[in-house]
Amino acid sequence: MSETPHLHGLTPTELKTLGEHAIAAKSLAYCPYSNFRVGCALLCADGSYVLGANIENASYPVTICAERTAFSKAIVEGRRESGGFKAVGVSTDISPPASPCGMCRQFIREFCDLQTPIFMWDAKGDYLVMTLEQLLPMSFGPDQLQKPDPNKGK
Ligand code: THU
Repeated sequence: MSETPHLHGLTPTELKTLGEHAIAAKSLAYCPYSNFRVGCALLCADGSYVLGANIENASYPVTICAERTAFSKAIVEGRRESGGFKAVGVSTDISPPASPCGMCRQFIREFCDLQTPIFMWDAKGDYLVMTLEQLLPMSFGPDQLQKPDPNKGK
């Protein structure tokens, strides 16, 4: 029996699983410099989940955030072609929850609809949710550029 969609089009099971994955993904973080663990989980349209965590570098600006790690994995694994993304989950060890940084918001904007929900879990396991549009109003995205040449960059 299928479950009724709940918050932002997710079923209660999808939301619970997204949270579990986002929280578990914190353990994948490589963050010896900040000790600030960030986990990310993407719920893909095909029902799969892709996890990411922050990966720091001795040359600090080379660090990649959890969200961009997760999306980079998902894109090369073909999740864009298989329907894209239904939701993003992010988790940290602080309360209230942290939200994706500006660079990650723009990165997410490339691959998600503006109505995509971004769930942010805090240290206690509680969450806040906002749409991408709420986190990145008046954004600049692929639709503002000329239609790409399908033979280029493939
Ligand atoms: N970080 C993320 O992974 N995602 C964000 O959206 C904000 C910041 C990471 C980067 C760095 O490893 C640590 O958090 C402290 O900035």
